[in-house]
Amino acid sequence: MANSESGDSMVERVVRILGAFDAGRTDLTASEVARRAGLPMSSAHRIVGDLLRTGLLERDAEGRVRIGMRLWELTTRGSRALALRQAALPAMERVQGEIGEHVQLCVLDQDEVLVIEQLSAPDAVSNVTTVAGRLPLHASSSGQVLLAFGRQALRSRVLARPLPAIGPGTITDANTLARRLETIRRDGHAVLSGSIESVATGISVPVTDRAGTTVAALSAVVPTAWARERETLAALRAAAASVSDAIADYGILTH
Ligand code: PHB
Repeated sequence: MANSESGDSMVERVVRILGAFDAGRTDLTASEVARRAGLPMSSAHRIVGDLLRTGLLERDAEGRVRIGMRLWELTTRGSRALALRQAALPAMERVQGEIGEHVQLCVLDQDEVLVIEQLSAPDAVSNVTTVAGRLPLHASSSGQVLLAFGRQALRSRVLARPLPAIGPGTITDANTLARRLETIRRDGHAVLSGSIESVATGISVPVTDRAGTTVAALSAVVPTAWARERETLAALRAAAASVSDAIADYGILTH
């Protein structure tokens, strides 16, 4: 594929353009796309034109561009996230019905937590993330579960990096985090209060495949000082077990 003067391939430039959009900026002018993607205006305009013609981007009534429904269709249809989400939804609905707060299904992607499904309620506690949102591994209960039950190489990589404070209670010290991960491995779950926002606590358990490999984390985000921690953990564990069965039954490939 043709490379630009800066050496990045066409695919990399397309990904930078698509990555210019996020939950806070769903529509952009072509110039804003170029700036946010860090690309020369001429090259951004040309690629945006191609993406509009193929439907991967759409233009709204004001002439701004946004991610096209065609892109959503293509990526969702063939994604392993969709299969995992479908296997998990009935169990997630049961937990959400019991606790009335947020329930989310998260996977590891590029050394971050990627939220692939979330069920919430209008009066649920504040939650910084949403579907297709990302969370740092060290700072979230889902991330700590994915770290604790993930590969040693992943743990070593994350523990060697700076651990920025996201909220008042984020663990920023590698030794403290390493000890915490051992506790999570022993207990089989993570409970994290105030790590992202002081008002919220994350409670998370691993979801395993037939081989016992952790493929996802199932989490609840509840108010801090939540009196129903035991009950929530029991509901999450039961749900994680039924997701594991569903994955095995449907032969869903998770990695
Ligand atoms: C967590 O998984 O610990 C978590 C996630 C999102 C939040 C708060 C906590 O907003």
